[in-house]
Amino acid sequence: MADIKEEFQKRFQKKPDHIFFSPGRVNLIGEHIDYNGGQVMPCAISLGTYLAISRNTDKVLRFQCLNFPDTAELHLQNSYTKSGKEWFNYPLGILNEVLGLGYSVSGLDMLFDGNLPIGAGLSSSASIEVLMTYALDQLFQLEIPKVEIALLSKKVENEFIGVNCGIMDQFAVTFGERNKAVLLNCDSLEYQLLPLDMGAYSLVIINTNKTRSLAESKYNERFAQCGAALKALRKEVDANNLCDIDIETFHSHKYLISDPVLEKRALHVISENFRVNKAAKVLSENKLREFGQLMYESHQSLKEFYEVSGIELDTIVAFCKEYEDCIGARMTGAGFGGCAIALVEKNKLEHFGKSLVEFYKGKIGHEPTVFASEIGNGVRQVS
Ligand code: GLA
Repeated sequence: MADIKEEFQKRFQKKPDHIFFSPGRVNLIGEHIDYNGGQVMPCAISLGTYLAISRNTDKVLRFQCLNFPDTAELHLQNSYTKSGKEWFNYPLGILNEVLGLGYSVSGLDMLFDGNLPIGAGLSSSASIEVLMTYALDQLFQLEIPKVEIALLSKKVENEFIGVNCGIMDQFAVTFGERNKAVLLNCDSLEYQLLPLDMGAYSLVIINTNKTRSLAESKYNERFAQCGAALKALRKEVDANNLCDIDIETFHSHKYLISDPVLEKRALHVISENFRVNKAAKVLSENKLREFGQLMYESHQSLKEFYEVSGIELDTIVAFCKEYEDCIGARMTGAGFGGCAIALVEKNKLEHFGKSLVEFYKGKIGHEPTVFASEIGNGVRQVS
């Protein structure tokens, strides 16, 4: 943080008014069901994005970042459109949305700095979106309710950026709390914070270090497939979302879906929602081994039926299954590369990491990054 303050001073010749932080997230279980009205169980992590910000009187928005060389300098106007693929489109989209709602803001000097691996499935985009919304809310006393901060940020991802994501990531980074998982019903937006007592185990994040090409278009394709499967089932089943349907009803009505690919997609979604219910129950009873088993089952379903895993993530999970002191593992987030998570006995962490790096490198050719992660708090002002 000292760095971002100094760097801000160097770049803008003044001190920032404030520094804000927003975390990334991992999802413990409930994958690809937020946009199907399901229940998910993400938690905020301690890595994330910082923003040093100050108001200016020049009516100019200046976007700079320690992670990327591209900068932007735009006159304050009533609306903006996305330009190219640069990182500043995320905060720009938020400004566009906030201005569109009729709030007024001044010119701003902004310096961003993140320690989340970008595009690795730890929600660097939700982190920066919520960070910007929250910073504007605090700086200009907009009094946007917290749930609206998450919803507005999601809207920007959907409409300005163009990814049909659900609410999970923005909600998790807004509402996350230290050592708690957010059990969120993505249909009603009701949520509970579940204490995460991992006992002898640690939550480990494993980054495949695979660049996720085409992830956005494949994600949008899955979104569309779920819509098509729901449409077919609704000919006879009364449901607003795929996750309103239970497994028995699905099996007795799946003949309505003529495309076998759509049938597999729906099977994943409906069974995953059921797994989340079970996971919440076993977690409350402290049955971590059963929780870990559900993680493995979730991964298998994402691999076989939803087809969003890949050789890198599957290699990690295969290793974990064979490793005695690992009790559960799965891909987390959208997939197509990105990260996996695992529950590993604390005093075996070093050995686990070393052996996994060796195993993975032998199969895939490059090294993964393995690190134990803390479960942290949601978006906040840090100075
Ligand atoms: C991405 C999206 C989320 C969610 C996950 C998959 O992270 O942003 O909304 O759909 O993928 O569970």
